[in-house]
Amino acid sequence: MQNREIRLVSRPEGLPTERNFEIRDTKVGKPVAGEVLLRTLYISVDPYLRGRMREGRSYIAPFEVGQVIVSGAVAEVIDSASPALKAGDVVVSGSLPWQLYSVANAQTVQKIDPTVAPISTALGVLGMPGLTAYFGLLDIGKPQAGETVVVSGAAGAVGTVVCQIAKIKGCRVIAIAGSAEKTDFLLRELGVDVAINYKDGNRYKSAEELRKEVAASCPGGVNVYFDNVGGEISDGVLPLISSRARIVVCGLISQYNSQKLEVGLRPQPFLLVNSALMQGFIITQYAQRFGEGVRELGNWLTEGKLKYAETIVDGFDNTPKAFIGLFKGENLGKQIVKVAEFRLP
Ligand SMILES: NC(=O)c1ccc[n+]([C@@H]2O[C@H](COP(=O)([O-])OP(=O)(O)OC[C@H]3O[C@@H](n4cnc5c(N)ncnc54)[C@H](OP(=O)(O)O)[C@@H]3O)[C@@H](O)[C@H]2O)c1
Repeated sequence: MQNREIRLVSRPEGLPTERNFEIRDTKVGKPVAGEVLLRTLYISVDPYLRGRMREGRSYIAPFEVGQVIVSGAVAEVIDSASPALKAGDVVVSGSLPWQLYSVANAQTVQKIDPTVAPISTALGVLGMPGLTAYFGLLDIGKPQAGETVVVSGAAGAVGTVVCQIAKIKGCRVIAIAGSAEKTDFLLRELGVDVAINYKDGNRYKSAEELRKEVAASCPGGVNVYFDNVGGEISDGVLPLISSRARIVVCGLISQYNSQKLEVGLRPQPFLLVNSALMQGFIITQYAQRFGEGVRELGNWLTEGKLKYAETIVDGFDNTPKAFIGLFKGENLGKQIVKVAEFRLP
């Protein structure tokens, strides 16, 4: 069998381009004791991978130039040298190589039941992004019924789940996203109270413009700000926090392609006078509680309280393109690449 893989061949400067990646044919490995041979079905492309493409210290090691990219993926076991898994099993892992086939230690992948929900959901609403929304909002944001929750990056994988959990908890939700199609979706499909487009055509609105728009939608101030994007949008929202507000720093996608740290609003005065909390987090901190999160998200899904959106790009070779699309807002909900067809036996 012929294999195929995608390597990082140069570090992106600014927005990544397809020239930063190389796609090439290779050989398929053979599993030895304790390992499985996997056929990749779906690959997850995620904003944090951009951070791994730059050099420097972070919470996770950078990719080396020349290294095969790894990310979340769902795969089918096609050969097993482990008693834990058999051919035909479907598994998910947070770090599988961008390859058509890969060999993995059976202990590093997790079996999923393909009859419970579409298997792609293990990368989205029932996977890492869903858990990020769940723990970030509930554990740090602590939303109370009747409070106002503002969500940036609201139409993405994490944001769509945050908006809905905040509604489930009885909050008023102001969602911020980058197109009219997305704000329509948030209002009509997810039932948010107000949806704000942070762009005016191709122009990005200023922090001041956004502050006025958000202020008009929440006269009592912002109790919880779930921030997926940072930058001007957050500079617009932060001055609107109310007493004892909680600011959940989940992500800063507007900054990921910047070549140097940007200077923006200094938040201390707003935190100080409101006795507010601003806290970052990395979802792996909650690994011990993932079971609880998946159970609760799964229940809401079954009860019809939680919807999910996926943007699925077809074809392994389109993985870099799908990744780059995250920074252009091409996805609604979770961005996934479909690599191979899977049918239930
Ligand atoms: N802390 C953690 O452990 C953790 C875990 C997962 C994700 N995250 C973070 O959470 C955020 C969302 O991740 P995700 O997987 O759900 O991605 P996503 O929101 O599904 O996809 C990225 C979205 O970001 C928006 N975006 C791109 N450039 C932007 C800019 N300059 N300004 C504002 N918005 C921009 C785009 O939507 P628009 O069309 O609306 O611009 C795009 O669709 C990211 O910052 C990610 O790094 C953190």
